[in-house]
Amino acid sequence: MRQSNRPTQLRVAGLNIQPALLLAPMEGLTDRPFRRVVRGLGGVGLPCTEFVASEGLIRDVPRIIAMARLDPDERPGAIQIYGRRPESMAQAARAAVDLGADVVDINMGCPSRKVCAHSGGAALLREPQLVREIVAAVRAAVAGPLTVKIRTGWSLDERNGVEIARICEGEGADALTVHWRTRMEAFKGAMQPERIGEIVQAVAIPVVGNGDVVDIPSAERMLDSSGCHGLMLGRGAVRNPWLLKQLACWLEGAPVATPTMEERHALVLDYMQVLEAGCHTEKGALGRTKKFCGYYTHGLPHGGPLRQAVFHSNGMDEVRGHLARYFEAQAAREDRGNEPDSSDNLADGA
Ligand SMILES: Cc1cc2nc3c(=O)[nH]c(=O)nc-3n(C[C@H](O)[C@H](O)[C@H](O)COP(=O)(O)O)c2cc1C
Repeated sequence: MRQSNRPTQLRVAGLNIQPALLLAPMEGLTDRPFRRVVRGLGGVGLPCTEFVASEGLIRDVPRIIAMARLDPDERPGAIQIYGRRPESMAQAARAAVDLGADVVDINMGCPSRKVCAHSGGAALLREPQLVREIVAAVRAAVAGPLTVKIRTGWSLDERNGVEIARICEGEGADALTVHWRTRMEAFKGAMQPERIGEIVQAVAIPVVGNGDVVDIPSAERMLDSSGCHGLMLGRGAVRNPWLLKQLACWLEGAPVATPTMEERHALVLDYMQVLEAGCHTEKGALGRTKKFCGYYTHGLPHGGPLRQAVFHSNGMDEVRGHLARYFEAQAAREDRGNEPDSSDNLADGA
């Protein structure tokens, strides 16, 4: 196999990010409990918080401050802020640094209705002048590494990612993360890393490739076809929290391990325990567990019935029961060489 473009590290301003693998900001998913579990597996060069509303951060709203917190051992770590008022974004960036951010990331790529409705996130791609003002204001407010997360435009008719990238670079951003899709494409379509390549060619700062990197072949394709300097992993890391470690091994040329069903079972239990310790109510922990399992069970053999069973559970112990039955059945199948059997229905709670 051709040796691909495998970065050994990513340098953002003075900061060394090694491996060149970033955990994506994902609202409702990449919270501190999830980041802690993934960190335990290894391979995370730079974790990032979920998006944090700039206006909430500067008003000290407790829920927003909690979202912005990094664990003491999350170093280096990034806090992502969103908003559309340059002065608020500048203040929020300072607050993020005070909270311990090694990197401040500006969200200009998130398609979330919540964010775009207030004309933040990806909606900013339609307002290049405002992009300029926001990046300039944040740059003037913080001395440390500043990154901007963008998509390649608002829509296929307004694919202005190169223009936006140049503006960010011109106003002092130290690196960009680029999701290859436009806002209007949401999460549809097959990976087109060449679009990121256009931006890599257009700027001198490092560009991190994002979107649909879920395994080694897709990572290799993203790196080779875009020439990007690092990778950001989102949904793939929730489905397979070992992904970053696996890619880190691959980047180093080291052997890549695949988790067993037993390890997958242990990980979700571990995550649930960390959630319970951190959430005020069981309902809160249960909601997050359901959201996590919606991704985590994707691609697993007979994951559909398990997903349904978890989704309809009324408590954490009920979820644990479904998981126990499912993973025991799958481990038994693994032992027997993966032949289908009637125990596949056990996840229904029967
Ligand atoms: C549930 C969910 C929440 C997300 N939240 C954020 C966010 O808070 N900030 C952000 O910049 N992007 C957010 N994104 C976009 C991801 O960071 C990432 O760019 C996108 O999922 C594509 O990468 P992937 O294919 O590796 O998942 C979110 C995506 C999902 C699916």
